[in-house]
Order: sequence, then structure tokens, then C-alpha cells
Amino acid sequence: MKNHVWRPLLIVLVVVCGILMTRALVVPEDFGVYERGYMYGWHRKSNEAEWKAIRVKYKTARVCAGCHKDKHDELIKSVHAAISCENCHGPNYDHPEDPLGMNIDRSRKLCIRCHSYLPYKGTLRGGIPGIDPEKHYPSAECVLCHIPHNPKAMNQKREARS
Ligand code: HEC
Ligand code: HEC
Ligand code: HEC
Ligand code: HEC
Repeated sequence: MKNHVWRPLLIVLVVVCGILMTRALVVPEDFGVYERGYMYGWHRKSNEAEWKAIRVKYKTARVCAGCHKDKHDELIKSVHAAISCENCHGPNYDHPEDPLGMNIDRSRKLCIRCHSYLPYKGTLRGGIPGIDPEKHYPSAECVLCHIPHNPKAMNQKREARS
């Protein structure tokens, strides 16, 4: 064969070898397809254990309902039905085994986040009934008067106590 055939062929060979060598160096040994049907496609086998080791942070209201049926039943009948328990109580992690338990936040901040009046008409946030935190009983916790799991009802017990 002539030079003008050999030269490009050599370049192609070098490129192919380069790709194969890079692949051998860079792709981990346990990279492959591990189940029939190609369900999870190509992945690192060791990556499965890495995902399993990640602690689940949020567990959804359905999990809470299993043990706190009373709270769940009260909440889903209320105007707060759409708010997930963990939105107010924080991530579940290892509750109830976790001795720290769930976070109970009685601060005004928790509610003001959604209920400080915002004049954004036509938006979902603007549609939430709002108050002016500086004028609406500024020195008291919201839960002194409102029941977070049933906000349309007033907290009779606490009102009487205060
Ligand atoms: C396996 C059952 C179980 C599940 C699931 C569960 N809890 Fe609990 N929870 C308990 C028990 C038991 C207690 C009472 C023990 C205590 O006060 O620490 C408790 C207490 C609480 C408390 C009060 C803690 C305190 O300091 O008084 C809150 C708030 C709470 N749970 C919220 C939640 C939320 C939100 C979820 C869902 C993300 C949830 N729980 C899921 C069993 C459970
Ligand atoms: C809008 C915020 C909000 C949501 C949503 C919410 N909580 Fe609460 N929760 C609170 C606050 C605030 C308190 C403290 C109330 C108080 O002290 O008066 C509380 C108290 C509790 C307590 C403590 C014991 C008690 O009887 O008061 C438990 C248990 C609890 N919530 C479970 C749940 C579960 C389960 C869900 C979901 C089904 C849920 N909460 C949803 C804000 C919320
Ligand atoms: C994640 C956002 C969010 C948080 C946090 C939240 N709320 Fe709400 N709240 C809502 C939404 C949404 C509604 C229902 C709006 C509607 O459909 O009318 C509502 C409704 C209410 C209502 C009824 C208003 C009315 O007259 O119609 C009261 C009262 C209320 N919330 C008090 C509270 C209190 C007290 C807290 C804190 C413990 C709190 N909310 C935390 C979103 C929130
Ligand atoms: C001392 C009792 C008390 C405290 C504390 C209190 N509220 Fe109220 N709230 C009321 C009463 C009474 C009403 C109904 C009459 C009114 O609108 O003033 C009301 C009404 C509301 C409404 C309905 C407003 C509307 O336009 O429909 C929302 C939302 C609300 N409160 C949220 C909160 C939030 C959030 C906090 C804490 C930052 C809070 N409240 C603290 C007594 C209280």
C-alpha cells in the first residue's frame, strides 16, 4: 500500500488505541449491567451500596399517619390538609428511635413564612390568608390562639388559660 493510505490508517489506529486505553484507566472495574432485562442499565455495582447508605431525610405524611392517626385525621379535614407534617416538624430521619425526636417549633416565624400578607394577586402564595405580623398580636405565639392542625378552630383551652 502507498503512504497516503498508511498514514491515515495509523492515525485511526492510534485514536482507537487511545480510546481503549483511556476507557481501561477511567471506567471502574465493576461498571456493567447486573440484572436481566436491562432494568437499571449500566452502572457501578458498588454504587448500589452507596445509595443504600444514604439516610432517608423526609418520609412523607403517610408514614406519620401510621403512628399519629389522630393528628393526620385532624389535619386532612382542615385547610392545612395540603401541608405535609414534615414541612412544619422538619425531616423525620430516625424518629421515633432518634432520642431528639421531632422538632416542635412554636415560634411565630414558622407561620409567618406562609402567612405574612404578600400582595401578589393571582399567585398561590398571594392567595394564602395573610396577616401583618407587626400588628396581629405581635407579642404572642400563634399557637396560643390557633391550632396548627386545625387552623380554622381557635384554641379555646389556651385562650382560657392565658
Ligand atoms: C413508628 C411510629 C411513629 C412514626 C412513624 C412517627 N412517630 Fe412521631 N412519635 C411516635 C412516638 C412513640 C412518640 C412519643 C415519644 C416522644 O414523645 O418522644 C412520637 C412523638 C412525636 C412528636 C412529639 C415529640 C415531642 O417532643 O413531644 C411529634 C411532633 C411527632 N412525633 C411527629 C411525627 C411526624 C411529623 C412523623 C412523620 C414524619 C412521625 N412523628 C412519625 C411514634 C411515631
Ligand atoms: C402548619 C404546621 C404543622 C403541620 C402541617 C403539622 N404540625 Fe404538628 N404541630 C405543629 C405545632 C406548631 C405544634 C405545637 C402545638 C402547640 O404546642 O400548641 C405541633 C404539635 C404536634 C405534636 C405534639 C403533640 C400535640 O398533641 O400537640 C405532634 C405529635 C404532631 N404535631 C404531629 C403532627 C403530624 C403527625 C402531622 C401531620 C399529619 C403534623 N403534626 C402536621 C405544627 C404543625
Ligand atoms: C406551608 C405554608 C403554611 C404554613 C407553614 C402555615 N400555614 Fe396556615 N395556611 C396555609 C394555607 C395554604 C391555608 C389555607 C388557605 C385556604 O385555602 O384558604 C392556611 C390557612 C390558615 C388559617 C385559616 C385562615 C382563614 O381564615 O381561612 C389559619 C388561621 C392559619 N392557616 C394559621 C396558621 C398557623 C397558626 C400556622 C403556624 C403554626 C400556620 N398557619 C402555618 C399555609 C400555611
Ligand atoms: C391572641 C390570639 C391570636 C394570636 C396570638 C394570633 N392570632 Fe391569628 N387570629 C386571631 C383571631 C381572633 C382571628 C380572627 C379575627 C381577626 O382576623 O383578627 C385571627 C385571624 C387569623 C388569620 C385569618 C386572617 C384572614 O384574613 O382571614 C390568620 C391567617 C391568622 N390569624 C394567622 C396568625 C398567625 C400566623 C399568627 C402568629 C404570627 C397569629 N395568627 C397569632 C387570634 C390570634
